[in-house]
Amino acid sequence: MVGRKATSLHSLSIIFFLSLSISLHIPSSLSSSPVNSFVFGGCTQQKYTPNSPYESNLNSLITSLVNSATYSSYNNFSILGSSPQDAVYGLYQCRGDLSMPDCATCVARAVSQVGVLCSQNCGGAVQLQGCYVKYDNTTFLGVEDKTVVLKKCGPSIGYDSDGMTRRDAVLGALAGSGGLYRVGGSGNVQGLAQCVGDLSFGECQDCLTEAIGRLKSDCGTANYGDMFLAKCYSRYSTGGSHDFYSNAHGDKSSNEGEKTFAIIVGLLAGVALLIIFLTFMRKVFEGNGK
Ligand SMILES: *[C@@H]1O[C@H](CO)[C@@H](O)[C@H](O)[C@H]1NC(C)=O
Ligand SMILES: *[C@@H]1O[C@H](CO)[C@@H](O)[C@H](O)[C@H]1NC(C)=O
Repeated sequence: MVGRKATSLHSLSIIFFLSLSISLHIPSSLSSSPVNSFVFGGCTQQKYTPNSPYESNLNSLITSLVNSATYSSYNNFSILGSSPQDAVYGLYQCRGDLSMPDCATCVARAVSQVGVLCSQNCGGAVQLQGCYVKYDNTTFLGVEDKTVVLKKCGPSIGYDSDGMTRRDAVLGALAGSGGLYRVGGSGNVQGLAQCVGDLSFGECQDCLTEAIGRLKSDCGTANYGDMFLAKCYSRYSTGGSHDFYSNAHGDKSSNEGEKTFAIIVGLLAGVALLIIFLTFMRKVFEGNGK
């Protein structure tokens, strides 16, 4: 009896360590793709103390964001902890066309980049092509914010009334359609708009109206334009001049997505096995106690 118990215990722990080593190994093979390339990032001034309760709250927030991105394209979390001054708030938003595995990969990349960029800063934010991640120790969840964070206008294509008419029509259609994620195109003009999921329908509309208006007024006859406000953005490009929208469904990115999915499944399996293992140990000890 004792011999059999020991054997199954042994094989269980082998499975556990195997799954752990597999899940720890895969992340290094993740490479960048257009969906995961960097657009902008920023950090708040104040630093937190290493190994503080704030750091541990921030770590659990980050874990929640990464896990949630395997099943939802938007989510927010508040980690309140035991004392109010250690509270941390965060959210992520994936671009509306991303598959769940691609979203998960993107958020994992964004989180690792913001960790490098804002190491020990209380707050940070990173926008990649396919997703946005932000956290801070003051709550910004559900608050509309139209601050211009990044504005980029391409070179002017000069006077091209057809091109500009099409651009304005595409932007007008983006402004006129509903939803957090909007795409449109006409001829060689592509347009894209995205709100962060904590905005209401009306707030998203208001934010995008501002972003789109600024694209028209600030970018004039530019062949592309990017207008990133704090809670929404709009972009356009003409003639493939600025392919912000490419490879969303590319083989490479979906492979990466699958890998991340595998990592997360691997981690969850590891945790499940650990629980089984501990339950088993407890039974063994209870058994010995009798
Ligand atoms: C945020 O953190 C900084 C540094 O730890 C602190 O000075 C500030 O008071 C905090 N803000 C809030 C709202 O807790
Ligand atoms: C934050 O998440 C909670 C739970 O998922 C949800 O009920 C709430 O509406 C969200 N808040 C915002 C501002 O998105």
